Amino acid sequence: MPARRQKKPTSTPKKAPSKHDYYEASVQEPEAEIDFMHQAFKALKRPRPVTVREDFCGTAINSIDWVKAGPKNRAIGVDLDAELLRDVAAARVKSRLTEAQRERINIIPGDVLSDALLAPALKADAVLALNFSYWTFKERAVMVSYFKNVRRALTARGLFILDFFGGSDVLVELQERRRVRKFGGFTYVWDQHRYDPVTGDYLCKIHFEFPGKRRRTASGKTSRGADVRPPMRSAFTYPWRLWTLPELRDILIDAGFTRVEVFTEKENKRGVGTGFWKPTRSVPADLSFVCYIVAEP
Ligand SMILES: C[S@@+](CC[C@H](N)C(=O)[O-])C[C@H]1O[C@@H](n2cnc3c(N)ncnc32)[C@H](O)[C@@H]1O
Repeated sequence: MPARRQKKPTSTPKKAPSKHDYYEASVQEPEAEIDFMHQAFKALKRPRPVTVREDFCGTAINSIDWVKAGPKNRAIGVDLDAELLRDVAAARVKSRLTEAQRERINIIPGDVLSDALLAPALKADAVLALNFSYWTFKERAVMVSYFKNVRRALTARGLFILDFFGGSDVLVELQERRRVRKFGGFTYVWDQHRYDPVTGDYLCKIHFEFPGKRRRTASGKTSRGADVRPPMRSAFTYPWRLWTLPELRDILIDAGFTRVEVFTEKENKRGVGTGFWKPTRSVPADLSFVCYIVAEP
């Protein structure tokens, strides 16, 4: 998925890296997500969040990092894929959190549309829907019911935070490649595989390629050496609908949210993101951009 900036390396697992390790190294930035959450709570004059629910949590690394970020922080991670939670998220919880920290994380296999998440014990100060995962809901009515469920699960001063990407390039079937240094080097490929302008169906994929290290030849040219790792084609496949910001804003209001803000990242003079985000009413058309949507119940 479109990345905000290059990831800093994290610790290397002992086993051969899995597709989830490559995913984490290339697209996930829990520190930046948590930092943004604090900026949003401050900008909208809310008390600091304590309980954070991460929807579509997958490997649950945002939940894990939230628990690590403060001694009172609590996290709830929800994902439909019970096997992924059992085999990957649980292993990360075990290896990255102390026993005491593990008391403050609750990983729930289940559907984010389920009423079970409305239990009073599961109320959250922030609900995060990141990596654009909510685009899995293709029908407006289903998106409304998801947003309604989130609103009901939030505390009165809580916030719902979603990420979003747009721009004219999202309408184009294309592949973007980015070299990542971790794990001996690999190429992350973001594949906007198919877009149907009639239905809005938007099929995206992530591939990982291993073209080998760049070497200088005797003639002074550079070439890539062989890499024994076979490519991971379609490591992740996302059958989404391509939504627009005005549509999502309207749906959030229809679901009962009282205020919806779009936060864009401030850029420096060279056009590079600074990590500081501000509520924005209007932006010039761009080829591609990533932003956050923040909704107040
Ligand atoms: C783009 S991935 C998110 C990856 C995640 N952020 C991570 O760290 O691995 C989408 C995730 O949403 C989950 N998912 C899809 N539909 C769901 C639903 N209705 N309720 C809960 N989880 C769902 C999938 O199982 C998948 O793990």
